[in-house]
Formats: sequence, structure tokens, C-alpha cells
Amino acid sequence: LKKVVGMVFLERMSDFCRDRQAKQLFRTLQDTRIFPDGRAEYEGRKFINFAGNDYLGLSRHPALVTAAQAALSEDGVGVTASRLVTGNHPLYGKIEQLIAKGKNQPAALVFSSGYLANLSVIAALADKVMLQMPVVIFADRLCHYSLLQGAQLAQARLIRFRHNDLQHLEDLLTQHTQDCAKLIITESVFGMDGDRADLEALAQLAKEHAALLYVDEAHATGVFGPHGFGLAASIAVPHVVAMGTFGKALGSAGAYVACHETVRDYLLQRCGGMIYSTGLPPSTLASIAAALEILPTLDAQRAHLLRLADSLRQALKAKGFDCGQSTTQILPILLGSAERALAMSQYLRTQGFLVPAIRPPTVPPQTSRLRLSLSAVHTDEDVARFVAALTKDAQA
Ligand SMILES: Cc1ncc(COP(=O)(O)O)c(C=O)c1O
Repeated sequence: LKKVVGMVFLERMSDFCRDRQAKQLFRTLQDTRIFPDGRAEYEGRKFINFAGNDYLGLSRHPALVTAAQAALSEDGVGVTASRLVTGNHPLYGKIEQLIAKGKNQPAALVFSSGYLANLSVIAALADKVMLQMPVVIFADRLCHYSLLQGAQLAQARLIRFRHNDLQHLEDLLTQHTQDCAKLIITESVFGMDGDRADLEALAQLAKEHAALLYVDEAHATGVFGPHGFGLAASIAVPHVVAMGTFGKALGSAGAYVACHETVRDYLLQRCGGMIYSTGLPPSTLASIAAALEILPTLDAQRAHLLRLADSLRQALKAKGFDCGQSTTQILPILLGSAERALAMSQYLRTQGFLVPAIRPPTVPPQTSRLRLSLSAVHTDEDVARFVAALTKDAQA
């Protein structure tokens, strides 16, 4: 009987995969190696890499690599326990101080990944048992999957507001005047669209409606805000929790939340992703600390990155491509169908560029796209070569 039940699982999974294949939505893994100059090796060939999130080129920065090597030699490859047991390496304290200072918040807490942080922090913040009342979560329609999963894990009511439509959010908040706790969730720079949320207006709305605002700064950290510490540094008030990651512009892995001390204390008691997960390896912590130390010195790299993005956006628009509302280092080229996005991505590979096709369910139906992400290590010539390769024929 057990065997038969097992077969049902396999059969259903196989049906699911076949369906994804038929819809051109099937995902596969490819070995890839990242090189220092905005290049990557893929299927044995070297490409200009417009697919990663290494916005400052820090993944191969000598200061980070040296710090990681030293920590590896001194402290080995892992901390072997959760932070609340024996995994709280001394570098955590340093990193949390640097993050809190950079974000203008009294406290910070480091997690092992952004996915884990979003899932478990939101579940803990929106816990109706702790709050002693029902909870309603208002999330931007284009929020990252991990944010929505956090809302689902919290078992709170989830309401999605139209992307960056604060009037819609205000209407929804006003409709929920009954006794409930309200949590608003947004990204500050949207990872698939490259546009930004109006954080000042969101913080004001949150204040007026006694809501907590949770801001995901995965794509803003390193690139925007004072010394690159993100856009939420300008709205550092007790009713804001700012989350960000170390695996994108900061080059390594892990995540943080910057928040009020009470939020930090509470998360240490109640947040499963903190309590029940092994701490980060010392080498990763050392590279995070090194990245945070050099972050304030990288203004020229940030300016170069954003200027590069502006010139690419203008060139793409001049060629008739739709880059949506992007104003950042992330540029979508909106194409509609998954087939078109895949064909364009494959064509660009023949021209020497890695640019991923992003398809549903990562993005809404009929908004399949190429997602271009630039890095400060890219050059004007890289961008010019890309624009030259992107002819009208490629659109067909
Ligand atoms: C907006 C956003 N939040 C969270 C995450 C998850 O972060 P991590 O890769 O550290 O798990 C990502 C990364 O994919 C992201 O784009």
C-alpha cells in the first residue's frame, strides 16, 4: 500500500512538471561561475553577466575575500549551532551594530538568508496570539514570494494592494477600522521591476492607521540611501522594520532586520528562523563585516552604476523597448509571453550576454520579461555592446 501511495506522489509530480514544460515554464539548473569583471561562465562559455545581483561587484572584492579566508583559517567552516545555543560568533554583534547605525535604527538582527528572514519575521510579527487580536496584512501586489509566504505562515488575513498605489492601500486600511492589528509590507526597490516605493508616504500612512510597516530592502541595500545603507534609513521610526540581504550588493549571503530594540528582543523569543536555524559560517560573517565597512567608501561605484542604468534605459526606450517604471540598476524589458522572453534570452546568449527570462509565477501572467541587472563593474562598452546586439529582429 505504501508503495502505491508513493507512486501517486511521483505521478502527480510528473504531471505537474509536464504541464510546466508544455507552458514553457519548466525551470532547470545550470552550472555557472561568477568572475570579477561582470562576466560569468555558463555551459563552458564566458558571458557578460546581466543576470546576477552583484550590484557593486563585491562578491570578488579582495577585502571581502581576505576577511573570509582569515576567518576560515581561524574559526573553521561553521558555527555548528543556532545563535541562541553556541552559534553566536562575535562578528554578529559587530555586524548588527554597523547595520543599526547605517539604518538609523536602535537595533538589528542578522539571519541566515533573506527568504528565512521574511518568512519567519513576518510570521512572528503578525502572530495573533502575541497581539491578542486578529491581524490583517496589506502587501503590495508585486511583493517577493518570501514576503507572501511569511503572511501565509502567520495565518493572518492577507490583502494585496495594487502595485505602488497608495490610494488603494489607504482605502483598504480605512475599510479595516475594526479591532485588528495591521501590517503593511512592501519592497523599497522592487526586484523584478526596478521601480521604488514611496517610503515616506507609506510610513505616514502606517502611522495614521496605527500599522507596522515592513520594508524589504534586498535590492536597495548597498545601492541607495546614505552610504548605501538603503532607502529605509530615512524613515527610521519605531513602527518601521527594515529588512535587507547580504547576498546581493554585499556579495556574500545572509540577511538582517533593522528595528526597535523591543522588536529585536521579541524576535529572539519568538522567531523560528532565528531560534531553529544554524548560524552563518564565520567566513560569511567576516565578509559581511568587511562589506559593511567599505560600503561608505563606494559612492563613486554607486554613481557609476546608476549612470550606466540611466544610459541603458534611455537607449532601450529609444529602440522601442518597454522598461516599465524602472529607475534603478534593475531594468525589465517587458515582453508579455513566456515564449518571447525565452526566445529573446536565448538569442542574447548567442550574442554573449546572460540575461534571464523571468516568467510566471515569479511575475504576473502575460508580463514575462527579460530582467537586466547591472553592476558597478560593468563598463560603458558592455552596455553599448548589449544595445547594439538588441536589434528589432531580436524582438520578433
Ligand atoms: C525582494 C527579495 N526579498 C528576499 C529575497 C531572499 O533573499 P535571500 O536570497 O537572501 O534568501 C530576495 C532574493 O531573491 C528578494 O529578491
